[in-house]
This record gives sequence, structure tokens and C-alpha cells, in this order.
Amino acid sequence: MIPLCIPKMKGNEWKYIKHCLDTNWVSSAGSYVNKFEEDFANFTQCTSAVVTMNGTAALELALRTLGIGVGDEVIVPSLTFISPINTIKYVGAEPVFVDVCRDTWVIDVEKIEEMITPRTKVILPVHIYGHPAEMNKIMEIAKKYNLYVIEDATESLGSLYNEKAVGTIGHIGCFSFNGNKLITTGAGGMLVTNDKKLGERAKYLSTQTKTILDNGAFYHEEIGYNFRMPNLLAAMGCAQLENIDEYIKIKRENAKVYNELLKNVKGVTLPVEKEEVRNVYWLYSILVEEDYPLTRDELIAKLKENGIESRPFFMPIHEMPSYKQCKCGDMKITNELAVKGINLPSSVELKKQDIESICSIISNY
Ligand SMILES: Cc1ncc(COP(=O)(O)O)c(C=O)c1O
Repeated sequence: MIPLCIPKMKGNEWKYIKHCLDTNWVSSAGSYVNKFEEDFANFTQCTSAVVTMNGTAALELALRTLGIGVGDEVIVPSLTFISPINTIKYVGAEPVFVDVCRDTWVIDVEKIEEMITPRTKVILPVHIYGHPAEMNKIMEIAKKYNLYVIEDATESLGSLYNEKAVGTIGHIGCFSFNGNKLITTGAGGMLVTNDKKLGERAKYLSTQTKTILDNGAFYHEEIGYNFRMPNLLAAMGCAQLENIDEYIKIKRENAKVYNELLKNVKGVTLPVEKEEVRNVYWLYSILVEEDYPLTRDELIAKLKENGIESRPFFMPIHEMPSYKQCKCGDMKITNELAVKGINLPSSVELKKQDIESICSIISNY
């Protein structure tokens, strides 16, 4: 079986985790927690990074750090993993869905302004599958209407927009280190920001708003949360981060091979990389158009018969029972991509021969 996207352990993962076990620093205090935050801030070139137990927690923390709550509206795409949408509900706010672009598959900036109301507080672009949203325009709109921008960069660690790491352009950015992500801690997340005050507030909220008094007692000025990542997982994160540049290079090289082998296949639309962008191609994905001999789902079944795992694009969240009542613009492109898109195997370990056999199945129809 060629899997969709599995992690790679090639460095100091064992060594650093063993160090935690040997020294008994396994929980949420310990040197790797701070080191992972510092190394990540360094890698993404931002001023503050706060580790969390997963990407969903990072997104919830981002909303809470900005004080988003009941009565507020957050503008989001519907073509996404459900996590960012759920977190909007966790804090009591409402998602407002905007369509995506046909070529990049991320939020269509031309359709944002029409959905802004006096209740809108945040624009939350999701950089799906590796391609960044048009951040310049999003920041311009945010400035015009006095809104915050939270980037869901969970699927695009390693992607750049105008040379800047995604996640560091808005007020807050969020990452995930789930097992299928570019680097993994098993489960984990990170909140990043270039606003030191926001970074401090996020850390404070994520650690139970704990102030330690002179006598050692814990004092809590307000309601806090336990979003912390244990030292054991942060140790793994430090080791994974040491190899990230190589992983980015491999992902991009694999995408080039895919592009070359699929470029002349009728009925297949390839992923793009806009001029101002570096696409990490976290999940190399294609569209199966009407003039391809099989439907998208038939192709998924065919690949499976040949031992190849693939996955359809996200189903639109605005059609899920919990979100059907939410405000929603015209979702023509989202609905179209949801039935045409397919993610192909994209592990760092993927071999050239694997890509050749995947592409030969796709091109033999
Ligand atoms: C777009 C997106 N946002 C958020 C998340 C949530 O991350 P986690 O699974 O670490 O909670 C994921 C997936 O893992 C995702 O794909």
C-alpha cells in the first residue's frame, strides 16, 4: 500500500524523548517546551510562539486571545477541515462562509467584503493543501474594516507568501503537528504572532492563567485553559524541526515529478503555485474534470485496487448538519471542487517509482 501521508523519523527523535524519560521531565514543564517554541519562532521568523496540545487548541486559543466571543462573526472558507469552524463555535461566535478560488483552492478575496457586517471581527483564511491565501489583499481588507486576521496554516508549514512564512502575516497564525503534517509530534500545535503582547496573552491563557505568588500558591485572575504540550512531545518536535528544510525540498521535488507526469493527461487539472508564493504541496492534489474518463470517486476506487491510498477533497462545511444554518455566500466553486478534488500520496518517504506507478494508473484512462 502506498499511504496518503505518513510521518518520517530520521533524526534525534529517540534521543530527545529518551532524554525526557531519563531525566523524568515528561510533563508540561521541561526544557524542550521552551526550546521548541524558540526554534519554531526562529524557523518561521516571528517574535512569539506558544505550543499547544493540537492545532485545534491553537485555533481556539487564537480566538480567545483576541477576545472573540458571543455575537461576533468570523469569515472563513467552507472548503476546509472542520477544525477551525468548530473552534469559532467553541468561543460562541458564528462562522460566515465565503467561496474559494478555482485555481488555488483557498478563500476568494474578491468575495470577502460582501460578507462583512458590523459583527465581523475576524477573517480566518485556511491555507489548504499547501497553497497560501492572498494575504496582501486579506490584510488590506482587515485594515479597512478594523478586523483581526487568524491564519490557519496547519496544512502549509513551509509555504511562503512574499518570502514570509505563512502564519506570520496575520495577527496570529496556527499550526498542527498531527501525524500527517510536514513535521509531527504525534499530536500538537503552535500559535505564532509578531505581537509580543498577544504572545504573552496566549501563553497566559493556555497555562490556566496561573500566577505563582511569593509563597508558591497559584492565583488565577480570570478563567484559563490547559492547552499545554508535554515536554515529551516538544522533544519530538525539536528533533523533527531539525530536518524540516530537507522535508520541504522533498515535497517540492515530488510535486515537480507529479506535475511532469500528469501535465498532458486530459481531464486532470494540476495544482498551481502563484508567483508570490512558495507552495509546500503538503498534499499533492489534482482535480478530476468532466472530460476525464472516470469520475473522481471511480478514480479513488481504481487507485485503491492498485494499493494506492488517496482521499477526496474536504466536503463543504456549510452543508454539514451543524452548520447548515450559517451565513453563506455563493458556494459555486467550493461545491465544484469538493466533488472533483483528490489528494494523492504525499509522504516525505514517497519514492520516484511510487509517483510513476500512481501517475501511470491516472494516465492510463
Ligand atoms: C485546516 C486544518 N485546520 C486545523 C486542523 C487541526 O489540527 P489538529 O488535528 O492538530 O487539531 C487541521 C488538521 O489536522 C487542518 O487540516
